Amino acid sequence: MIGRLNHIGVATPSIEESVKLYRDVLGATKIHDKFAMPEQGVWVCFVDLPNAQIELIEPYDDTSPIKGFLAKNPAGGQHHICYEVEDIIAARDDMRAKGCTVLGTGEPRIGAHGTPIIFVHPKNMGGVLVELMETPKGAH
Ligand code: CO
Repeated sequence: MIGRLNHIGVATPSIEESVKLYRDVLGATKIHDKFAMPEQGVWVCFVDLPNAQIELIEPYDDTSPIKGFLAKNPAGGQHHICYEVEDIIAARDDMRAKGCTVLGTGEPRIGAHGTPIIFVHPKNMGGVLVELMETPKGAH
């Protein structure tokens, strides 16, 4: 049921500084404008790669859920990996049936791509915070 790698989430204290890295050092040419997701406590900026995206996330305010991560990793770092799934409810139920902890209420919320997402606890995923995201309709 695991599908395409959609993006890798990278936490950063400054999207502007990170954009310089991806654009000027690594040579990325498709970097989207950053936008706020206040209900999730983050600014988001997507860097397009030929086969996936990097999702730069910066705290929106002091209550941001990634504040703790940045306290432990002040320079930023890899935060989560996002895989696409065909049906988010089926994926959530399957994760739970297999004993995995779905974060929050478990009710999917709308992610940065406008499709429903859930997060699965790293303790069940080999230490990796995993985001599952429903494949956008008409994509790929
Ligand atoms: Co993400």
